[in-house]
Amino acid sequence: MIDGSAVIAIASDHGGFEMKEFIKTKLEAAGYSTKDFGTNSDNSVDYPDMIHPLAEAINNGNFKIGIILCGSGNGAQMTANKYPGVRAGLCWNEEQATLTRRHNNANILSLPGRFVPFELAWKITLRFLTTDFEGGRHTIRVDKIAVNP
Ligand code: RB5
Repeated sequence: MIDGSAVIAIASDHGGFEMKEFIKTKLEAAGYSTKDFGTNSDNSVDYPDMIHPLAEAINNGNFKIGIILCGSGNGAQMTANKYPGVRAGLCWNEEQATLTRRHNNANILSLPGRFVPFELAWKITLRFLTTDFEGGRHTIRVDKIAVNP
């Protein structure tokens, strides 16, 4: 369960812009604060330009939880997962959100802005924010994700 006082970092490219605005409005109505890393319109942009700053802020510990969006959710997820302190899970249904929190301790939710209805994206987001990491055997697995130098 993500503490309601947490500030949720959020970022998208043009492919996820409309959904980002929708999710931001829903989050704020539900009492969460948000920090928007852009983009600010549906003009074409390059997703790494918005996703890197958000992922860096999660990696540095400035934010605990983030939501990223692009058209497919893939480019955003790939970019974010370059950071050692980031575990970004791509989710297209609520069960995926449950699993990526419970089993992977995901700290970023990646949403496919062009492939799921907005109301479902909000349900996925709520599931992500209200599901806890299970720990136990999953801690061992998550600890093995990092590539050793
Ligand atoms: C933009 O057209 C699209 O490529 C982008 O939103 C994303 O899906 C990339 O992975």
